[in-house]
Amino acid sequence: MRGPVTANEVRVAGPGVWGPEGAGGKFPSRCRKVRCRMTFNPLEQRGIPLDKQVRSWRELNVAPIDPDATDPYTRCRIITMNGIEVEAVLFSHQLARNTVDPDVKRGLAEVRYVEAQQQKAVNWLLPGVSSVLETTIAYEQVAVDLTAWIARMEPDPYLKQAYQFGVLEDFDHLYRYANPYEMIEHRKAESIVDGLTEVMPGRPTRMHHRHPFDNVRDPYGKAATDPLSKLHALTVMSAEQQTMNFYMNTGPTYTEPIARRLYQEIGLIEEEHVTHYESLVDPGETWWEQLVNHEYNECYLYYSFMEQESHPKVKALWELHLNMELEHLRIACDLMRRHDGRDPEEILRPAVAERPDVRAEQGLPARAARHPDRPHHSRRRLRPGGARAVRADAATPPRR
Ligand SMILES: [Fe+2]
Ligand SMILES: [Fe+2]
Ligand SMILES: [Fe+2]
Ligand SMILES: [Fe+2]
Repeated sequence: MRGPVTANEVRVAGPGVWGPEGAGGKFPSRCRKVRCRMTFNPLEQRGIPLDKQVRSWRELNVAPIDPDATDPYTRCRIITMNGIEVEAVLFSHQLARNTVDPDVKRGLAEVRYVEAQQQKAVNWLLPGVSSVLETTIAYEQVAVDLTAWIARMEPDPYLKQAYQFGVLEDFDHLYRYANPYEMIEHRKAESIVDGLTEVMPGRPTRMHHRHPFDNVRDPYGKAATDPLSKLHALTVMSAEQQTMNFYMNTGPTYTEPIARRLYQEIGLIEEEHVTHYESLVDPGETWWEQLVNHEYNECYLYYSFMEQESHPKVKALWELHLNMELEHLRIACDLMRRHDGRDPEEILRPAVAERPDVRAEQGLPARAARHPDRPHHSRRRLRPGGARAVRADAATPPRR
């Protein structure tokens, strides 16, 4: 089902600096200004009451970032959280369609409305001045950096290999989109990714087209797996799903045949990627268990991104949304207790709090040397730690 890979060693320029880390730093609300390295547990925090979460049009109409003056990783966080919020909305719709209790449907609708507002606030941070191809290149930067970081942090060797397998194809997508960008807009993709992510060939595109059977992997076991693995799978699946949706909708907006053809081809590969990543999630999780995992993951990511964010207004949005998600999580936990008769703590031991501070491993000496004086890059994030090479060997994940 797979072919040889051209790049066995994928050198990643520090994806973890903007990826989830889950440790250290301040926490909004009661432990503000306290280093809570071992204490971040979303289950113990109180969020904003749900009836206080709905925002006015004015509040939703956020000012977009300036792409020329903003760290590219801020845009990566925006794209990631947009994918997470889209998944939150779609999952809630699916759950509602499989629920007979009208009170539960109403409760889901109320939280879902807030999720939809969050999606608008997050995605509207993207600037209208960017072309579709520029945003596409940023999407692939997310796919490369985020997946590579998750591959590095994933404790399960089978899942790690699944991420390593997929990241080589998104490397290729970044490289492929760089070509029409140069031909149509006469700019280099490096100007978008700002040297943080290498634009280089990955697995050749012709090798990405597999029989659909071969994209279905084995799931983790929900009882045995590290809870962190559940968050990883949900995060990458959501990001890839949003990428698939983005290409299927924006591809035909181009008039140039080279761009139309490329969006069609890569769009179909993203469908394969969604199949690949969603199959890693244990289908034996109940609907309520899945809902809790979704809300917990939103807390985890908003918390982590708030910690790493250098753009003050974007950081404030992450903090606001985190405080909303804490309440969503509480509601989801109540639903799980009521419908499954189980305690959410059984599936959510505070793995987040146990994570080391990954930034110690994720320094960017190459970038720091290249851009020592860039004002929008946090010095904290540029401390040396050794850019790490990710071993992304070509092997298809073996069966468990
Ligand atoms: Fe959300
Ligand atoms: Fe991709
Ligand atoms: Fe992908
Ligand atoms: Fe949520």
